[in-house]
Amino acid sequence: MSEHTEPTTQAPTVEADLPTIVELCKKRGIIFPSSEIYGGFRSQWDYGPLGTELKENVKRHWWRTMVQLREDVVGLDAAILMHPRVWEASGHLENFADPLVECVECHKRWRADHLMEDAGQTTLEGITCPGCSGELTDPKNFNLMFKTFSGPVEDEGNAVWMRPETAQAMFVDFLTIQRTNRLKVPFGIAQLGKSFRNEITPGNFVFRTREFEQMEMEFFVEPGSDEDWHQFWIDERLRWYTELGIRRENLRIREHDEDELSHYAKRTVDVEYYFPDSSLGWAELEGIANRTDFDLKAHEAVSGQDLRYYDQVADERYHPYVIEPAAGATRATLAFLYDAYRVEEAPDADGTLQSRTVLKLDPRLSPYKVAVLPLSKKDTLTPLAKEVYDLCKVRWMTEYDETQSIGRRYRRQDEIGTPFCVTVDFDSLEDRAVTIRDRDSMRQDRVAIDRLVGYLAERLPVC
Ligand code: GAP
Repeated sequence: MSEHTEPTTQAPTVEADLPTIVELCKKRGIIFPSSEIYGGFRSQWDYGPLGTELKENVKRHWWRTMVQLREDVVGLDAAILMHPRVWEASGHLENFADPLVECVECHKRWRADHLMEDAGQTTLEGITCPGCSGELTDPKNFNLMFKTFSGPVEDEGNAVWMRPETAQAMFVDFLTIQRTNRLKVPFGIAQLGKSFRNEITPGNFVFRTREFEQMEMEFFVEPGSDEDWHQFWIDERLRWYTELGIRRENLRIREHDEDELSHYAKRTVDVEYYFPDSSLGWAELEGIANRTDFDLKAHEAVSGQDLRYYDQVADERYHPYVIEPAAGATRATLAFLYDAYRVEEAPDADGTLQSRTVLKLDPRLSPYKVAVLPLSKKDTLTPLAKEVYDLCKVRWMTEYDETQSIGRRYRRQDEIGTPFCVTVDFDSLEDRAVTIRDRDSMRQDRVAIDRLVGYLAERLPVC
């Protein structure tokens, strides 16, 4: 543990491990291997109906917190393929690389820094191929950006790169957005979307993939106020995870050591989550960096455009400093799944204790907010059950499910984190009331259909 790492006062309380989460995601079609009928494809993953809802809810809540509820942050949706000189200015063409060695026998490639770390050495001396003990070549830098060509001619003049982060568009568009929206420093620009990195060792399910989603915000501040704003955003971002249900003891703040800082950063702090899997442990969910005026000055130098902000009150121009909370939407989705996973003992209909798996997701993240479950498939119940479904579905993502026994349907809804199940039974035909079951307490309330929407609205937060 680095001397700058926050001491944890309580041991982490994560109950799931990677095989458990992967199994649950596969069984319920939440996340599964891409191109599975072809045997899957290189650590690429598809988000099924439930996974799509969950990930969208993570992103929606980030957008609500970072843009909708703030007067000083606006949104952006920029092109993924940007002018190639963007990556020259940002330093990605030169610096965004990992050192690789190749085995002369089996031709497998390895990260040189990882091999040295594993061997507890600062040089490659004496280290052989971990696969076949063959001799290794000298390290060569391997750029992590995906390169492609714009247009039909595949020559260097048409080379473009898939963005490896969403951040750069916020610097490139900084003045356009500031002027057209009449913004005054301090203000932020937020963007979420896909990023691509040709990771040498993707793995741990969706923790590290070559195609992933980021949620980034660049907050432009007056130089001198940057350190206070940096602390402000560290506290805010930590709060976002805990307010959405991640237990505090499973999160920590880690300060980057001097030699670990990126070329643009004055100070960087990571929000880490405790994944109890051996190859992860405490691992980064989000980096919060003080990027100084590095990026605006770098783009100014390469584009030749003056990117200074004009402060009307002081009648001066300057390059703002930038505080950047940079999170992964796909990685956060994984952390929310881990933290919500519980196995509990619960009484069944005749009072016998049974174990149940329940995803205690914050309802704002749950894929479905409501499940409408007619007690039986009998035609007599269907019209009323559909009426109840229609009432709910216009307000919340609602599932209608009439297959299997009611017990099994409750178990399925617990396992996918649905906060409320609404059961329509034969009495409902007489009293026009339904039974509402709460996922966490398993308490059941009988509620008139006329009051159903009000009852649920009181308990489901706006998202
Ligand atoms: N603009 C700064 C930046 O991109 P980063 O620490 O490289 O910083 C930010 O990335 C976040 O993006 C990480 O904290 C992580 O959550 C996510 N991320 C980065 N690479 C990833 C990958 N290969 N797979 C999944 N998520 C990734």
